[in-house]
Amino acid sequence: MKILISDGLSKKGQEIIENAGIECVNQHYSPEELLENIKDYDCILVRSATKVPKEVIDAGENLKVIARGGAGIDNIDHQYAKTKGIPTLNTPAANSASVAELAVAHMFALARFLHKSNVTMRDGKWNKKEYKGIELNGRTLGIVGCGKIGQLTAGRANGLGMNVIGYDPFIKEAEGIEMVSFDELLAKADFVSLHVPKQAEPVIGAKEIAKMKDGVYLINCARGGVVDEAALLDALNSEKVAGAGIDVYVEEPTNNIELVSHPNVSVTPHVGASTTEAQERVGSEIAEKIVAALKG
Ligand code: MLT
Repeated sequence: MKILISDGLSKKGQEIIENAGIECVNQHYSPEELLENIKDYDCILVRSATKVPKEVIDAGENLKVIARGGAGIDNIDHQYAKTKGIPTLNTPAANSASVAELAVAHMFALARFLHKSNVTMRDGKWNKKEYKGIELNGRTLGIVGCGKIGQLTAGRANGLGMNVIGYDPFIKEAEGIEMVSFDELLAKADFVSLHVPKQAEPVIGAKEIAKMKDGVYLINCARGGVVDEAALLDALNSEKVAGAGIDVYVEEPTNNIELVSHPNVSVTPHVGASTTEAQERVGSEIAEKIVAALKG
């Protein structure tokens, strides 16, 4: 049996798969090459970079399993795969702590101008007077989506002295979070952090931004498209939104240069899960699941 590791896998994860007698091929194909080559594999393992649409699933005549090292499976047409009897495996919680830490990192960056001073000091500027920040302590954080990552973000924010409110249509209680309605969250939060899966429509668009406090900070380490990028840019330009921390984009790699180069934006290139610890957990967990599915 042969598995295509398209976007990398930890050393330990690869060992688990090889020890089960499955051949690992580390190769990132272009979308066209993937269509041509997928027939040679029993399993494809991806992260965010590789998309697995219907066409790839149809071309994968030997595919038995599709796997994603990560929480979301929105880059895989998993519904279609299911109709063909091909399961999609993922690691729903393995990188949660890393994503939560990144959300908090963006909050700190915006509150203390780290995103700006990291750039301006390299140009020899000493803009001390321009960087009068705010404390996170005492501020209200609104968590939209109170699953594992939302809850871990809340725990960290509680530790920083923030008041944490949250909204989730499916979760009515969560430790360290005062659950409120969506509109109440939008009206009360100084920082809004999104922790929801990808959806058909943006969760935060112009209408929702209008309901927020003037000078609110918005953090998206969830999925590209859950925030309407054009609406966010307008709100940054009008200073309705004082700052945004963004890890995920409608298109990745993004070409929304106006947004990512906005002076009040702290940006990272979809690295929420990119820590040594998360990738070790993700790698071992997904490898065990792949072996069980192929050999079990
Ligand atoms: C996830 O869905 O957990 C992340 O997007 C994984 C990743 O960054 O590859």
